[in-house]
Amino acid sequence: MSNPTIDTLTSHRSIRKFQDRPVEAGLVDQMLHAGIRGATSYNLQNYALLVVDDAQKRKALGLAHAPLVVIGLVDQYRLSRWFAISHAGPSCFNGSHNLFIAFWDAIIALQNIVVAAESLGLGTCYYGHILGVDVQTLFGTPEYVFPAGMVAIGYPDERPQLAARLPLEAVMHRNRYQIPSDQDIRRWYEQTDTEWDTLSSQQKARLAEQAIQNIAQKLAREGCSAQFISERSADIMKNLQRAQFVSRRGDTEYLLSAGEAQR
Ligand SMILES: Cc1cc2nc3c(=O)[nH]c(=O)nc-3n(C[C@H](O)[C@H](O)[C@H](O)COP(=O)(O)O)c2cc1C
Repeated sequence: MSNPTIDTLTSHRSIRKFQDRPVEAGLVDQMLHAGIRGATSYNLQNYALLVVDDAQKRKALGLAHAPLVVIGLVDQYRLSRWFAISHAGPSCFNGSHNLFIAFWDAIIALQNIVVAAESLGLGTCYYGHILGVDVQTLFGTPEYVFPAGMVAIGYPDERPQLAARLPLEAVMHRNRYQIPSDQDIRRWYEQTDTEWDTLSSQQKARLAEQAIQNIAQKLAREGCSAQFISERSADIMKNLQRAQFVSRRGDTEYLLSAGEAQR
């Protein structure tokens, strides 16, 4: 059975090319209201939604091409201020529990915004690099605020094919995590493996020079390489440190905060 919500969800595709046309204020308002209806731990909404339409700021985020950007922030700062003015007594805002639960809240709100946007005929694309953006310098965020996710929104100027997904059996486990066999894994990633055939002969020749002969090897040298991941992770740790969710020990060691009583 189908309905408009399921249709919106199952037609999702990321949009990276937008029309040069702003998103109407009324629609932005509707999306944000849909966003804040998402479930949230203790109904505290320990997140903030940073709406970025300023051209300079969008450029600084590397998203000048998108008319609108929404950043979901973990926000334990607002709660800390409320507790302070309510003389609530010592409490804790920087523990890993605070961070993970608020991260969850923020992403739920952001995904509600994405679904609302797509239901209104807009296109969206998430961007992962926000985790390492210094939001304190760029947006003036205070302590206990950390970027959880970012989405570009606008009127689509392309209609890409639906991206294939792994078969449901690859991601679904019933009652117990089933360790898959090598054959299962090979079969599940068959679709991804065939992407190799879509590369041009020049691309393949360039990759062959680096002894890359399949998509997994290509990914291992690109977005999953140790260098890429460690650079991105270092930026994230700096951001967590700025927001006081981790403390630094020595030059490279970071400790996720177990949570200290504050105020
Ligand atoms: C956490 C996350 C980070 C992403 N980061 C990027 C990104 O940096 N650049 C980009 O072009 N797409 C990014 N995407 C979009 C994915 O590439 C896209 O969702 C995926 O290829 C599947 O395609 P589809 O969304 O069209 O189904 C991101 C998506 C998620 C969920």
